[in-house]
Amino acid sequence: MGIMGSSFTFQPVLERIAAEIEKSPGRGRPADYIPALAARDPRRFGMAVAEPDGTVYGVGDWRQPFSAQSITKAFTLALTLAREADQLWEHVGREPSGNPFNSLVQLEYENGIPRNPFINAGALVVTDRLHSHTGDAVGTLLDFLRAESGNPGITPHEDVAASEAAHGDRNAALAHFMASYGNIGNPVPVLLEQYFRQCSIEASCADLALAGTFLARHGIRADGSRLLTRSQAKQVNAVMLTCGTYDAAGEFAYRVGLPGKSGVGGGIVAVVPGRCTLCVWSPGLDERGNSVAGVAALDRFTTLTGLSVF
Ligand code: DON
Repeated sequence: MGIMGSSFTFQPVLERIAAEIEKSPGRGRPADYIPALAARDPRRFGMAVAEPDGTVYGVGDWRQPFSAQSITKAFTLALTLAREADQLWEHVGREPSGNPFNSLVQLEYENGIPRNPFINAGALVVTDRLHSHTGDAVGTLLDFLRAESGNPGITPHEDVAASEAAHGDRNAALAHFMASYGNIGNPVPVLLEQYFRQCSIEASCADLALAGTFLARHGIRADGSRLLTRSQAKQVNAVMLTCGTYDAAGEFAYRVGLPGKSGVGGGIVAVVPGRCTLCVWSPGLDERGNSVAGVAALDRFTTLTGLSVF
């Protein structure tokens, strides 16, 4: 059966990957710096593929909501880029940082302009700007995720948000530091509340794969309207490829060969432009904050299907 044939289904390849992952021993460890995430079972595994027409395939825990965390940063980037286009790039860069996602070190010698929109500092700038444009960054993000996925139940998890706030000294430091350079427009406590609630949003692999299909449709939303220009959709995918898995982006590009955005909840969204969007979830992380089984599953997917950007 040809992969582009009308009767093609992703189901067999997902079943095969799930069976392989089931047998794999090492699964990493759930994030423990956010106590509310520490109790997750690293043997959980789910994977979904959404096609541009809204067809979804899934395996394992693909309907189980999990903490989206930094995956939300791909969506806030798109929503902010849609509102201010290239002006955004005066406030945040688009180069890989080569540093951990919560690092402070580059910010001082780069004058409070974060390297990219996916490290925490850059994501704080993006959410700050989205909040200034809309008056409700999290509400805008939720509206978008619910509309694209068709799931009105997607919602922040207030206990996780509170847990992050209680252990959020580093994010607070990043936000205050950038504010000292004039790169944050809202009061820092307002921004932090938005950011922690954004990160705490719970959604399933099916939800997030569907919500990300606008990136496979070159910027077109599920209802046919355009969120991003074709060029902007390319830009978001490019930044996901180069920065979406932080200081592991080189290894992720080498193994998976797709734009991807990970979160410390153990999820990863990846895009095959023009073809499909994937989301995989397994809570055990490697030392750089990416899901061990998630990266392995995406690696197998691109190897078995030949679907990669390379
Ligand atoms: O701000 C934090 O540290 C978390 N809310 C999000 C970090 C995250 O997901 C990084 N991704 N791998």
